[in-house]
Amino acid sequence: MSTVTTASATREHRVTVRSLAARKRKAEPFTMLTAYDFTFARIFDQAGVDVLLVGDSLGNVVQGCDTTLPVTLDEIVYHTKLVARGVQRAMVVADMPFGSYQVGPEDAVRSAIRLVKEAGTHAVKLEGGVDVAESIRRIVAAQIPVMGHVGLTPQSVNHMGGYRVQGRGDEGRHRVIEDALAVEAAGAFSVVLEGIPEELGREITQRLSIPTIGIGAGVHCDAQVLVMHDMLGLNDWSPSFVKQYASLGALASQAARTYVDEVRNRKFPDDEHVYSS
Ligand code: KIV
Repeated sequence: MSTVTTASATREHRVTVRSLAARKRKAEPFTMLTAYDFTFARIFDQAGVDVLLVGDSLGNVVQGCDTTLPVTLDEIVYHTKLVARGVQRAMVVADMPFGSYQVGPEDAVRSAIRLVKEAGTHAVKLEGGVDVAESIRRIVAAQIPVMGHVGLTPQSVNHMGGYRVQGRGDEGRHRVIEDALAVEAAGAFSVVLEGIPEELGREITQRLSIPTIGIGAGVHCDAQVLVMHDMLGLNDWSPSFVKQYASLGALASQAARTYVDEVRNRKFPDDEHVYSS
């Protein structure tokens, strides 16, 4: 098989902007999880997760910060490289952190190009609607697929006065709809809907032709996303919309306790775990 044939055969089974659009047309929900390193990227990819997001939530769950605001573009580049190495099928999306696109469209395009060239992402995500539409347009014009993110946008935590459900009341509802429409009109291939009432999630999903990816936005979205630490039970606390699919934190803690106990009591290493002479 020639190199060209091998490369295109590999590409064919990959998740792409086109295959995700087809999933919306066929009303087949797809999945996104966050990932920040090679090991979990490989596990999630092999489990059939369609999109891996290198979220700026790494500020919270990897770095231990109160907000996502301190996360830098260099850090997202680094973590995206690790995730891209672990993936064979899933689409990799790199979050654009606070400060990497707010100055203006040129800055936004420059940051997005770094994420493609240096980190190997397939697409980028940025927060905001009407206010960032021009930046989305310019990144898409540079041939980089963009995922939007409207509703509760964690980078606006100070402006919103906390992490509050968005889209309640007529004015709030109208604002989220306008933002979602602006993101679509600017050329985004999909949009995250975060922290909005389920009915609004349904309405936006019906009005948009691009897939909606919900987090705390109800069951009617075209796809769902969760932060991996929340769904695996690695955090002490997680929001009420999160379903915990495993208790890895408790398992890891138990394993570490047993290890400490066995080393202290000279039970480890035992005969099975030593080199013979
Ligand atoms: O940073 C992140 O993990 C996100 C998801 C919650 C959508 O933006």
